[in-house]
Order: sequence, then C-alpha cells, then structure tokens
Amino acid sequence: VTKIGVLTSGGDSPGMNAAIRAVVRTGLYNNLEVFGITRGYMGMIDDDIVPMHSRSVANIIQRGGTILKSARCKEFYEFEGRKKAYENLRKHGIEGLVVIGGDGSFRGAQKFATEFDIPCIGLPGTIDKDMAGTDFTIGFDTAVNTAVEAIDKIRDTADAHDRLFIIEVMGRDSGYIALHSGIATGAENILIPEAKTNIEDLIASLEDKQRRKKLVNLIVVAEGDEFGGAEEVAKVVRQRLPDMDTRVCILGHIQRGGSPSCIDRLVASRLGYAAVEALMEGRHNVMIGIINNKLHYTPLDLAVKAKQKIDKEWLKIVKILAS
Ligand code: F6P
Repeated sequence: VTKIGVLTSGGDSPGMNAAIRAVVRTGLYNNLEVFGITRGYMGMIDDDIVPMHSRSVANIIQRGGTILKSARCKEFYEFEGRKKAYENLRKHGIEGLVVIGGDGSFRGAQKFATEFDIPCIGLPGTIDKDMAGTDFTIGFDTAVNTAVEAIDKIRDTADAHDRLFIIEVMGRDSGYIALHSGIATGAENILIPEAKTNIEDLIASLEDKQRRKKLVNLIVVAEGDEFGGAEEVAKVVRQRLPDMDTRVCILGHIQRGGSPSCIDRLVASRLGYAAVEALMEGRHNVMIGIINNKLHYTPLDLAVKAKQKIDKEWLKIVKILAS
C-alpha cells in the first residue's frame, strides 16, 4: 500500500485523537500518504477526504472528541452508498482504511471490505468496552474515571442528606462502565445487563440497611439494564420504600468527553501504530486489540458478534464489601 485513509465512526471516545495521530505519523514515517476522512463513512460518501501531514495531528494527543469528527451514517447501510464511498477512495488512490470505532462501525467496514477490494483495519474505539478480542477499548478508561469522579461527588451530597442515589451510567448493552465505576466508588448495588437483578433481594438489602441506620446508599445502574435505567429502578424503590429519600442522577454524555487518561493514550498510540504495520503486512478485515499485553488480531465479524464476558465473582465482591 502507498496511500491509506483513516476515519472515526460511531460514538466518539476519548483517545480517538491519539489514535489518529499514531496512524498519521506511523504512515508518514513509512513514506505512505495518509488521508483523513471526516464524519466517518459520511466523509467517504461526500468525498470529504483530505491529505494529513505531521502538523495536522500536532497538539491533539491530550484532546477528547475527534478532530476528524464522527457520525453514524445511514447511507452506508445501502449498497449505493458504499459504492459511492468506494469510488471516492479510488479517486484518491486510497488502498487501505483504518476505521476507529465500535461494533456498528465494524459491521459497516466488514461489509464494505468484502464487496470492494479495500482492506480495512478496525481499532476498538468506544467507551462501552463491548468488543470481543481485546482487553481495552480506546476511551473506556477515561469514561470510567469520569464516572468515578462524578459518583464520588454524588456521595458527598448523599452523605450530607442521608440519601439513596440511583445513578445511571452509559454502556449501551454493556455493564462494564457500571461495574468498574460502581466497585471503585463503593456502590451498595450495581445493576448490569449481564446479570439478572432480583428486585426482592435489592429491596430486602435496602430495608436491612434502613434498619441498621445505614442511610447513605448508592446504586449504580447501567443504562442497558433490564429495568430500563435509573428512573425505572427509582419508581420501584419509591413505591416499596417511601421513607427513603431517593434521588436519581443520569451521568449522560459527560462520560464521552474530556482529556483521555494515560492508559487510553497509550492504547491508542500502540494500536494506531499497529494498524499501519498491519496494512503494510497485507492484513485485512481484522480488528486489532490487546490481550495480556500482546497485540491480537480478530476478524471484524467476530469482534462484533461476541461480547466480553463479565466475571460474576465481581458482583459477589460488591455485596461483601458494601455491607
Ligand atoms: O456507544 C457509546 C454510547 O455513548 C453509549 O454508551 C450510549 O448508549 C450511546 O453511545 C449514546 O449515543 P448518542 O451519543 O447517539 O446519544
């Protein structure tokens, strides 16, 4: 390959800029021409494709968001859209693509790469950590630290008023942000989609705490939990335990922004570098992840199909530690 393109797609995540920087600079180091494609697959369809230089990625390693912007592109679901995208890449002579994004983005890349002769390398960029084939996704560490910081603040005010807070975190269908931030903030309960919640157990444990005058309680709920989020859990709790002073807090998109953590910058830099190496080695249609500190190549379709498994022992630990 002599010319490659890089794009960010789907929900943005902190560290995407560090990954773009690594792709651009590794490409240039190897005498490749590197093109930045804006707004994910939209930019391919609209021919919003610009050459990147070393200076194009200066001063971005510490910035959240993505300088290439991101989008969820409906037109790319259609063959016509993908064909147009291909023609634009051809026009620029682009022979390989680095897609930084989550599972939706990889589904698109997989389809595109099998229809047209453009090898695609996926880098896991999502705060949700819902990809198979990697211990890390770019952005998860920052998001979870943002959640921890916010929940610590909530604990201060919860403590001052003896309140029960039900806090909702992001993650789509994945409970990782809830699990990690809940453990790290000493939450009394953590509700995640990967484990069934027994509402009677939850109420019983809150009643027990009420009896023991342990009135400050935090429940961290993943947005994808079976109840449908914090408001729904609060409805049940308020009905069953009307004496408890219950508040809801939905953390929302603050979890997506902010300066990436050191881990996210390291992971993004390593993966961005590896993506260019992979394209030069002739690899195609794989997601690059890191498992046990080693690079790991997973076919794009497998990276999106399987979910990471949550170790249920963590939930037992939560119960023991929150007593
Ligand atoms: O995939 C990242 C994510 O932030 C999820 O955690 C969340 O469900 C979703 O994106 C929110 O999407 P949007 O930014 O389009 O509202």
